[in-house]
Amino acid sequence: MPRKRVAVVISGRGSNMRALIEAAKAEDYPAEIAVVISNKANAAGLSYAAAAGLATVTIDHSLFGGDREGFERALDRELQSRAIDLVCLAGFMRLLTPWLVQQWSGRMLNIHPSLLPAFKGLHTHEAALRAGVKIHGATVHFVVPETDSGPIIAQAAVAVHDHDTPQTLADRVLAVEHRLYPLALRLVAEGRVRVEDGRCIVTGITAGAGALIVPSIPGP
Ligand code: GRF
Repeated sequence: MPRKRVAVVISGRGSNMRALIEAAKAEDYPAEIAVVISNKANAAGLSYAAAAGLATVTIDHSLFGGDREGFERALDRELQSRAIDLVCLAGFMRLLTPWLVQQWSGRMLNIHPSLLPAFKGLHTHEAALRAGVKIHGATVHFVVPETDSGPIIAQAAVAVHDHDTPQTLADRVLAVEHRLYPLALRLVAEGRVRVEDGRCIVTGITAGAGALIVPSIPGP
């Protein structure tokens, strides 16, 4: 099966983008990173991608003034002209209009640093600490018009420690994000994910049997 052509869309650091680039180096990975697109010319991720020999494009949203759809039409044109199959939003900090989201329905993924539907929006690690949850994590989901919603493809959980700061918790979550996104993209690119009644059903994969329980009591 030909590898799916993926556009990674970023706004900044691009560490998830890096994880996807690394994963796509494997011969048996079902997707290739065809382009990295940023809405900010100075995104650190862009220089990394360019240095890695990948095609990079900047579509500066500020040049479109308040014309959100104008920006999105430019983005869509870029995706279409490169025959992109799947779009991975990875730290892309713009809200998308329903128009673009519908264009790419079922073909656009996002990673969010919480166990959705908990803690949508920004500052998820602060919110998790404030709420006192013992387990936190990250989610990869299909993008739908409503922000940080959409069928959940995969999630990864981490323990919250009593003395965590937003930064230490963010670091722990980010480490699992870098494993989670390549896995989720693999499943989608292999055609193993279908959406039924707003839920993702993944074929050919077994859910882990073990439970993650925090705090844990040492066994006998
Ligand atoms: C990640 O925490 C991701 O979950 C969120 O934005 C952050 C992007 O980080 N959507 P990076 O640019 O991938 O390093």
